[in-house]
Amino acid sequence: MNNSNKTKPRLRFFEDAPGQRHIVESDQYLYQRPKPSHNVVVIGTGTMGQEHMRVATLLGRAQVHGIFDTQKHSMDIAEANFAEYSDKSLVRYPDLESACNDPAVDALFICTPNYTHFEILQTAIKSGKPIFLEKPMATDLQDAAATEAMARDYSSFIQIGLQYRYKAQYVEAFYEALERASLGDIKTISLSEYRPPFLDKVAQWNKFNSTSGGTLVEKCCHYFDLINLLAQSQPLKVYASGGQAVNFVDLERDGKKSDIDDHAFVVIDYANGTRANFTLNMFCHDFSEELVVSGDRGRLKATEVFSFHQLQGAKATLAIEVGESGPSKTIDVTYPALIEQSGHHGATYFEHIAFVDRLEKKSVSAATPLQGLWSMIVASAAQASIASGGAVDINQFMAANDLAHYVND
Ligand SMILES: NC(=O)c1ccc[n+]([C@@H]2O[C@H](COP(=O)([O-])OP(=O)(O)OC[C@H]3O[C@@H](n4cnc5c(N)ncnc54)[C@H](O)[C@@H]3O)[C@@H](O)[C@H]2O)c1
Repeated sequence: MNNSNKTKPRLRFFEDAPGQRHIVESDQYLYQRPKPSHNVVVIGTGTMGQEHMRVATLLGRAQVHGIFDTQKHSMDIAEANFAEYSDKSLVRYPDLESACNDPAVDALFICTPNYTHFEILQTAIKSGKPIFLEKPMATDLQDAAATEAMARDYSSFIQIGLQYRYKAQYVEAFYEALERASLGDIKTISLSEYRPPFLDKVAQWNKFNSTSGGTLVEKCCHYFDLINLLAQSQPLKVYASGGQAVNFVDLERDGKKSDIDDHAFVVIDYANGTRANFTLNMFCHDFSEELVVSGDRGRLKATEVFSFHQLQGAKATLAIEVGESGPSKTIDVTYPALIEQSGHHGATYFEHIAFVDRLEKKSVSAATPLQGLWSMIVASAAQASIASGGAVDINQFMAANDLAHYVND
């Protein structure tokens, strides 16, 4: 039977239904799954590595061939969880070199803690294979800029895990604001995240600035990437106020106290006159994100709410208000439930599509190391502003960090 999956709809609900299991493979047409064309290795099989394993399997265009983690326990759990949805056996590599250089493998996913990214990349890049590198690229700007420079000279490609741009409400917001230009010229951008504290991690690497890069780098690089994309310009000035008010104030490890911020207000002026702000609060009980973009013709509001205490799944909406300029609307935006449930409300699935498309030499829109670097520049400037109490002039900040060559004239 013809196995072209390019035009057929996927009917996953039916293909997985118990009442359809009697349909044998030779009779399958709508239920045929794509045959994976690529083998990938996942390095770091914690929370995010396992999300990539799940999403790659759900998408089905690439399969997880093997895993490597410095903790046997993480590999044991990842393998046990993988066995719940896949009957494929996994290669367990004994070390990083063998994980990176298996000739049967087409691409590498680096999903280890932030402070290990740069070092692991030095080995991974010798493989010449396409690399997916989780965000943030590094914990400091020097390593991030060195990564960007390495990527420019690399014979293959490096994609950064800034997948929030694929969340359903932001895909639609970008379409309205940038492609349809529904709002006219964008003047202001407001983005906020209210959420619970950082989750527990292996060795609690995300509770310390030295191993995470700081909260605004570790988590909020996602939001600065979104703001940079919407502003379509380089930042000129960043002012931020923030600190550690509630979370982990009593957490100590190896004699070191947790020092990560749990709230912040950040204001960004862009070279084209766009002004933006970002609010973070990490001592809330539920998740909510809100983006408001205002132009000279209209306003857009994109929201996402994910409530634990009401056991309510993520719900995203988009509102376009353009007054007398044309139609306004308020809509719910979703991906199919199976895709949303596979991780980060479906964004990771579309990030994988971009990665696999790129493996297949198609042109894609995915986070580049340069965009990853700029998300870190805004985050690092904001952290520097919190530390100094003053606004950070980006030209001076870039010069002080030997990054002046990234500033447009
Ligand atoms: N894109 C996103 O939205 C998103 C979400 C969560 C995490 N992340 C990123 O993913 C990465 C991993 O985060 P996580 O939440 O999975 O953390 P985690 O602590 O749950 O897992 C990290 C895993 O890496 C392993 N590890 C540590 N050092 C290693 C090394 N040198 N070589 C191989 N394995 C090593 C640990 O043993 C652990 O199993 C981080 O960079 C984080 O910022 C991204």
